[in-house]
Amino acid sequence: MRKILITGALGQIGSELTEEMRRIYGSENVVASSRRIKEGHEKLIESGPFEIININDSATLASVVGKYKINTIVNLAAVLSAVGESDPQQCWHINMNGLYNVLEVAKEKNCMVYTPSSIAAFGPGTPKDKTPQDTIQRPTTMYGVTKVAGELLCDYYYKKFGVDTRGVRFPGLISYATLPGGGTTDYAVHIYYEALKNKKYTSFIQKGTYMDMMYMPDALRAIIDLIEANPDRLKHRNAFNVSAMSFEPEMLASSIKKFIPEFKLDYDVDPIRQEIAESWPNSLDDSAAREEWGWNPKYDLDAMTKDMLEKLRIKLNIQE
Ligand code: SER
Repeated sequence: MRKILITGALGQIGSELTEEMRRIYGSENVVASSRRIKEGHEKLIESGPFEIININDSATLASVVGKYKINTIVNLAAVLSAVGESDPQQCWHINMNGLYNVLEVAKEKNCMVYTPSSIAAFGPGTPKDKTPQDTIQRPTTMYGVTKVAGELLCDYYYKKFGVDTRGVRFPGLISYATLPGGGTTDYAVHIYYEALKNKKYTSFIQKGTYMDMMYMPDALRAIIDLIEANPDRLKHRNAFNVSAMSFEPEMLASSIKKFIPEFKLDYDVDPIRQEIAESWPNSLDDSAAREEWGWNPKYDLDAMTKDMLEKLRIKLNIQE
């Protein structure tokens, strides 16, 4: 029986993953944790066990793992790319020292560890189109540095100590439940809110800038399916390329216009986030994930847009 601890459970991925895992594994078997209580998450906090954990405090982490007899840690506590560039020290501290604590506790207490990497683990020297699974990784952001180092550290703990570590390289994730916390791909979430509220959006990412993206239901499956994958089939562990779609802002706007014809897109480019975006791949080759554990995303751009707009209309209480 899985006993799961999710760190960063009130973030963009965590808030939806907690709900989905509680549905699959039973509420009492999924412990949500965050370094602080955030408003708007009362339902999640009350729907199962919840603990305050700062992943830089390894004693508390170890004691929660012991208290609930945790055997699987999903480590989602992280600082994203744009915020990471405004405070690189904090980004290193949480993403690297936090991951180190998680791995040490996992080693002591015999836990599997799932920790996501990102398209940010690649850099300007990486082949941009159909970026291979195994290729050059020389990122130029602190977030990216922590993601490559994290992939290596997780592989090391598997090889050296036998900790069952697994992860994927997530692209930009699009969801309606919880906003992302300061990434470069966030424009692709904000655009839906503004399309519904104001029928227009000003993009901080330049026209023509392609990045890989994924709708949250597929991202949740990428986590759960890899956790449940047969280890004998895994040639890679940390971390698998996964992708569902690759688009630039105009393509996203065209998709929205199919549902909101008056929608208008213009640009006010943020040089910092644009530089980050340009250092990342246009699209990933995710064939290793498909072969080794059956990765197969369900949502393309229009299917995602339809669902996002339907769900957000309800959330924001906006009529057609
Ligand atoms: N969505 C993330 C970011 O933009 C990429 O992993 O920082």
